[in-house]
Amino acid sequence: MDKKKYTIEELRKKIDKTKLPKHVAIIMDGNGRWAKKRFLPRNYGHQEGMERVIEIVGAASNLGIKHLSLYAFSTENWKRPMDEIQGLMKILVQYIRRELDKLHKNNVKVNIMGDIEKLPELAKEEVKRAVETTSKNTGMILNIGLNYGGRDEIIRGVKKILKDVELGKISIENINEDIFKNYLYTNGQPDPDLLIRPSGELRISNFMLYQIAYTEFWFSDILWPDFTEEHLLLSILDYQKRNRRFGGI
Ligand code: FPP
Repeated sequence: MDKKKYTIEELRKKIDKTKLPKHVAIIMDGNGRWAKKRFLPRNYGHQEGMERVIEIVGAASNLGIKHLSLYAFSTENWKRPMDEIQGLMKILVQYIRRELDKLHKNNVKVNIMGDIEKLPELAKEEVKRAVETTSKNTGMILNIGLNYGGRDEIIRGVKKILKDVELGKISIENINEDIFKNYLYTNGQPDPDLLIRPSGELRISNFMLYQIAYTEFWFSDILWPDFTEEHLLLSILDYQKRNRRFGGI
């Protein structure tokens, strides 16, 4: 990308609508550091992170992205201090209460990746309400990773497929990559074309391990609470310049 600073409007115009990534995945990282830089408690960072979730979900849906996956809470995040976990759950509830009507009006379908049975009661209820309310929507699918781990998802998929083998619904010989994909939380959805990780960390952290085999990565030093539509557009413009070969030449 040249160094000229473009306005959001100009960036939107530069995007080739015929080559949009169908599926964008984001590891939202850097909330804690954002807060620390301001001498604020970590949950202020998560709170500001929620504002960016609202902005990026709207921007992605307006742009015509069909699938957006956000990593909100990992299976490892339970190791954090109790007050931070409670803060994150409160922010999740707040997000749904504030945004569900808008998501529904915009035809967004909420899909959860992860085992929500382990979430606190109120968070679980609100998440279920979001999924049920939007279940028939046909616009962008918003996958939210909650108590999500990529390895956990694969093991869960293996157990589910073994159950179907046991029930005689499928034979071992017929199991292939395309069939196994349907046993993941992203059942029926294409793999991410683009994975964004802000905050300067260069790792995957157990996110969508099966699905990202041929995904293009976009890393940036921006902390998630500073990640705006501009960065989403820049990542997509960068993606559109890449030559994807999927193992071919
Ligand atoms: C990682 O930053 C971020 C998280 C563990 C939580 C992400 C959650 C949100 C953005 C809140 C709202 C989400 C939804 C879906 C409503 P970190 O805390 O690891 O940051 P650090 O690496 O700087 O400490």
